[in-house]
Amino acid sequence: MAETPQIVLTGDRPTGKLHLGHYVGSLKNRVALQDTHTQYVLIADVQALTDNFDNPSKVRNSVPEVALDYLASGIDPAKSTIFIQSQIPAIAELTVFFLNLVTVARLKRNPTVKDEMKQKGYGEDVPAGFLSYPVSQAADILAFKANLIPVGEDQLPVIEQTNEIAEKFNRIYGEVFPHVKPLLSTAPRLSGIDGKAKMSKSLDNGIYLADSPEEIERKVMMMYTDPEHVRAEDPGHLEGNVVFEYLDIFDTDTDGLAELKAGYQKGGVGDVVVKRRLLALLQEVIGPIRERREHLAKDPKYVMDIVAEGTKRAREVADETLAQVKEAMQIRYF
Ligand code: TRP
Repeated sequence: MAETPQIVLTGDRPTGKLHLGHYVGSLKNRVALQDTHTQYVLIADVQALTDNFDNPSKVRNSVPEVALDYLASGIDPAKSTIFIQSQIPAIAELTVFFLNLVTVARLKRNPTVKDEMKQKGYGEDVPAGFLSYPVSQAADILAFKANLIPVGEDQLPVIEQTNEIAEKFNRIYGEVFPHVKPLLSTAPRLSGIDGKAKMSKSLDNGIYLADSPEEIERKVMMMYTDPEHVRAEDPGHLEGNVVFEYLDIFDTDTDGLAELKAGYQKGGVGDVVVKRRLLALLQEVIGPIRERREHLAKDPKYVMDIVAEGTKRAREVADETLAQVKEAMQIRYF
């Protein structure tokens, strides 16, 4: 039996520049996947507007920044289709049809949405667009018949809801959509430099792919370590120590790192020594990305032309799916 082709679709909400957490958790993976899979990468501006509808400039200005982060990280437009969600009318149309297949109760039960609603303090006054963004996300995915979605743990409920919608559609109108599989990231989630849950713009605790060497140094030097490790001689703790958390990810010299950890725990290794080691590694990772980014940023038209080209290609694919959907739903009149 022929294997179903694997079509990958991933994306980000454009609400700011991308950071090291994005790089480790998803960008690196996309660069690898594009060699073996058909891959769509969407800049989810419509989704970004569901909780930023009152701040269109933030979303607008983030679109080219995210595109720059993609290209600088090695997402290759010859291998991946980069496109802007709002420019694909078929996604909006599919969303309308899919909304019939989902109950409000089900939308309110989605744990990811529930969490986000709590964080944003919406309560009962949640915008309907925000509550139903998983339906729009199902449309992002199904418009391309994508069946492999690289995600972090927090997005699993959205994939589950996508499958419910696809199954219900197929049952009622006929088989159009594939089953969608999540591809769970194996990369650990990077904490913010303050040791708080994750890097976020609002907490200002992220290291960005666009950061200068000086900014990276400043951020590493203020990283949260072990508050009880005051003098170098004091025994230090590794748990919750952001510098060691990062070293575990970026330091490939495992023996050297094990030795450093032992010394730190015993006492006699100062924070600055450990931070310097991490700093050198981060400069090595981010340096080439930042340089490519700076180079590309000098030609914004070139960058947006790439996105326009990807968007055009994406539109053709999504329109074809929409035609099949309308046929199946018996709303193809002429
Ligand atoms: N919800 C995703 C995020 O915020 C972004 C996104 C929008 C997405 N549409 C998608 C991810 C489709 C995967 C597939 O991270």
